[in-house]
Amino acid sequence: MTQEEVFKQLTAHAKEYGFVFQSSEIYDGLSAVYDYGQMGVELKNNIKKYWWDAMVRLNENIVGIDSAIFMHPKIWQASGHVGAFNDPLIDNKDSKKRYRADVLIEDYIAKIEEKINKEVEKGRKKFGENFDEVQFRATNPNVLRNQKKADEVNARMAEALNANDLKALRDLIIDCEIACPISGSKNWTDVRQFNLMFSTQMGSVSDDAGTIYLRPETAQGIFVNFLNVQKTGRMKIPFGIAQIGKAFRNEIVARQFIFRMREFEQMEMQFFVRPGQELEWFAKWKQMRLQWHKALGLGDNKYRFHDHEKLAHYANAATDIEFEFPFGFKELEGIHSRTDFDLSNHQQFSGRKIQYFDPETNESYTPYVVETSIGVDRMFLAVLSSSYCEEKLENGETRVVLRIPPVLAPVKLAVCPLVKKDGLPEIAREIMDSLKFDFNCQYDEKDSIGKRYRRQDAIGTPYCITIDHDTVNDKCVTIRDRDTMKQERIPIENVRQFISDRTDFRNVFAQLDKTE
Ligand code: GAP
Repeated sequence: MTQEEVFKQLTAHAKEYGFVFQSSEIYDGLSAVYDYGQMGVELKNNIKKYWWDAMVRLNENIVGIDSAIFMHPKIWQASGHVGAFNDPLIDNKDSKKRYRADVLIEDYIAKIEEKINKEVEKGRKKFGENFDEVQFRATNPNVLRNQKKADEVNARMAEALNANDLKALRDLIIDCEIACPISGSKNWTDVRQFNLMFSTQMGSVSDDAGTIYLRPETAQGIFVNFLNVQKTGRMKIPFGIAQIGKAFRNEIVARQFIFRMREFEQMEMQFFVRPGQELEWFAKWKQMRLQWHKALGLGDNKYRFHDHEKLAHYANAATDIEFEFPFGFKELEGIHSRTDFDLSNHQQFSGRKIQYFDPETNESYTPYVVETSIGVDRMFLAVLSSSYCEEKLENGETRVVLRIPPVLAPVKLAVCPLVKKDGLPEIAREIMDSLKFDFNCQYDEKDSIGKRYRRQDAIGTPYCITIDHDTVNDKCVTIRDRDTMKQERIPIENVRQFISDRTDFRNVFAQLDKTE
C-alpha cells in the first residue's frame, strides 16, 4: 500500500470511529477546519494533559495561563505579524489554483529525494547483507547527481525566501519546470505575499481602528502577561509560562488532513532566562522535549531534529522536532531561542517598562526567551498515524488496531458481560460504576465477544474485561490485552490497580528530566 493509501485509510478510520469529522460536513464542509468526535476529544484531552502536567506539575518553576484570543491590535505590530507573517503565493492561470510557492518547490525536492531513496532501496536489494548505505550514498552516480540537484534547489529557495525575493522564487519554479498538479501547465502568475492573519471588527466601529485579529499563535498572550505573572507569582528567573489554546491562520496550502489547519490548537511554553544563558537552555529544552516525545513509545526512530540554518531575525537558534508522518518527516514541534525580541518590542510599542530585577546579580534586564511550541492537532495526527495497524491474524481474519500508548488511549477499559442475562450485566454495571471515575470506561454488551474486541481494538482500548458465568462464583474476570490479545484471569478487586499500573501518567513522567 502506498503512503497515500495508508493516509486515506487513516482519515476514513478517524471518521468512522468518531475521532475526527470534517467541520460543517452536512454543508459540504469547510476547508481545513475539523471537528473532534467522541473518541477524538478524549485523545486530544489526554495529549493536552500529558503536555500540561509535564510542564506545570513536573516543573515547579513553570506556571500556566489562559489568555484571550482577541488582543490589542498593536500586539501584532510589535510581534512583527502585521508586517511579516506572510506566505509567498502563486496562481496557476489555467487551473486558477493557488499555491504556496515554497511548498511547490519543497514538493519538487521531495520527489527528487524519493528518487534517491528508491535508488538506495535498489542497492540494498542488490547487495543484501553487505550493503553499506553511507558508502552507497557517497558514491552512487545517480544518487550523487540527484542529491546535488536537490541541494542546489534548496539553497536557491532559502536564498530567495531570506531575501524576500519573490521574482527569484518564481524563476526557480520556472527553471525547475514545476507544473500545476491540477492542470499540468506551467503557466504561472507572479509570486505575491499574503498575510495569514484572520481579521475581524470589534464593536460597532467599521474602520481600520476597529480591526482586530484572531491570534495566529498563543505565545504573544504569554509575553504581554510576563510582568503580571512574574509579579503575582513571585517568579524568579529562570521560569516558564505555559499555555494551551486556539490559534488561527489563513493557510493557503491547507491539506494533509489535520496537519495544516486554519483553526488549530497550540501548546506553547516561553522560558525566561538570564541573557547569555539562552543557548544553554535551548540545548536543554531540545533534549527535554525529545525525551517527552520518546517516553510515549511511538518509536525512537520516528523523530529527528531539523536545526534551522537560516534564522528568523529575532532568533539566535531554532530547531524543529520532525516526526515521520505517513507522508514523510515533517515538523511536529518548534523550539526557538527568541532572544529578547518580543519583550523588548512590547516594551517599545506599549511604552511600559518590561524588565526583571535579578536579586542574585542586582541587575535589571530584559529576559531572553526559549520557546517550545507544538500543535495539539499535529501531535494527535502523530499518535493516530503511528498507532494505526492492520494485522493478519492466525485464523486468516484481519483486525484493525490502534496501538495508542495506553496513557493516551481515549477509553482505558471496556467492560463486557459475556451474555445479556444470568446476572452478568448487573455485575458488569457494578464494576463499571466503581471504576468510571478512575478511568474512562466503556460498557459494551452488544454482539459476540469477538466483535466487541474488534470494536475496542479499532478505537485503541488497551484492556477489555469479560464477566462470565464463573465470575458469579469466583469473583474474577478475564482481562484481555489489546496488543498481545492474551487473556488472563484476575480478581475483580485487582482490576483498578491492574489498569492504573499500565495507564497512569506517573510511569511516563518518571522517565522525564526536570528544569530544576
Ligand atoms: N510561537 C511559535 C509558533 O507559532 P510555528 O512553527 O509557527 O511557531 C508551532 O508553530 C507549531 O504549531 C508547529 O510546530 C505545529 O505543530 C503547529 N502548527 C503551526 N501551524 C499549524 C497549522 N496550520 N495547523 C496545525 N498545526 C499548526
